[in-house]
Parts: sequence; C-alpha cells; structure tokens
Amino acid sequence: MSQQIAKLNCRKFLGFVMKTALVLSLVGAGALVLSSCGAGRSLSAQSSPGSGSSPSGSSGSNSASASWNVSLVSSTEPGEPMIISGTIYAPDGKTPLEGISLFVYQTDATGRYSTTGGDNRNTRLHGVMKTNREGRYEFRTIKPASYPDSRIPAHVHAYVSGPDYPEYWIDEYHFADDPFVTSEMKAKDEVKGNRSSIVTLTRGADGVLHGVRDIVIERCAKNCTGR
Ligand SMILES: [Fe+2]
Repeated sequence: MSQQIAKLNCRKFLGFVMKTALVLSLVGAGALVLSSCGAGRSLSAQSSPGSGSSPSGSSGSNSASASWNVSLVSSTEPGEPMIISGTIYAPDGKTPLEGISLFVYQTDATGRYSTTGGDNRNTRLHGVMKTNREGRYEFRTIKPASYPDSRIPAHVHAYVSGPDYPEYWIDEYHFADDPFVTSEMKAKDEVKGNRSSIVTLTRGADGVLHGVRDIVIERCAKNCTGR
C-alpha cells in the first residue's frame, strides 16, 4: 500500500515537473523572442550613420539626434584641416529646409578609407548632420587624398534624406584645386556657383581651409538607397 502511495506521489510529482518545465520553456522562448526583437532595434540604432565617428561627440549616435555641425575627426587627425558648410534647400531652390540629414564619408590624408567591413558607411571618417532652422550644415574634417596610386580626384561622398525625402546619394564633393579635377568637370559645374559639387577652398583667418556647397534636395528619382 505504501509502495502504491509512493508511486502515485511520484507520478504526481513527475506531472508537476513536466508542467513546470513546459511553462518555463514557453516563458524562456518568449523571453528569447523579446530579447531578439530588442537586440534588433538596438543594433539598428547603433549602426546608424555617424555612430562612433565623431571624436568630439557632436555628431550623435544617429541622425535623429544629429547636430547641424559636426566634426569627423579628432584634433590629432593627420592632414589639412578643412571646414565645409552650406545650406540645403527645398526643391524650389529657395526655401531653406530644417531637419534634412546629410551623411558624409571620406578617405583620410593617405587616400584610405580604413574600413573594416564591406559597408562604406562605416569608414573611419564619417558623420551625419541635420540642418538647423536656417537649413545650415557644417562639417569639420581634414582634406581627403586621392586613392593611393590613382588619378581619381580626392572626394567626400554624401547622402541626403529627410521627412518625405527618401535617401539618395549626391555628387561627391570635389575640390577645385585638385590636379585630377579636369577642366571638363569644372566646365560642367561652374555655372552652379555655390551649388557646384566642385568646391573652391579658401584659407580663413583661422588658418583653416573653408569651402561652401549648397544643396537643393529632390524627391529621389535616381541614386536612391532605399532608406
Ligand atoms: Fe570614394
């Protein structure tokens, strides 16, 4: 009789253990799903343009918190210091737009991106800005160099985007004093004034090279990134 009671209790106990295990496994699976979803959001936020790119911390971790002016480099970055600024306008070409994101990336003074992965957005020198109320942006950096052993002009890549403006890439920033910028390139762009992608650099009283490029944003019809 005592053996029967022991078997019965054991059966009940095993049943309890099985039910508990089932509940715990469901809870565990749920936690795993929630954890994965959370990790996805976190990864997305961390990989936003500009993350970790601004030694000064001014570019923020993503475009939502980006400033209108950022530094892509630390004060010890080798190269010729350079500040590029401008205004981003609506498609009418007249209305300055606030809250437009400009993402830029470039080579260093040796012509290298120093990227560690395939995504060129994660090149060492990159950052993101968001235009202020006057539509202004500005980034401090060093003048990039041409790719090693190439005749490709030095350049800064750029993407623009904003509310109702899906992201697309615009012509690279080039520099008028670059020996690899051809007269044909200049002739095509010179009528655009400050809207030219070939930027004329002048040395300011601060000893730093300054250049201006204004941008008229479009509803992307070409060069769209899908972002
Ligand atoms: Fe490039």
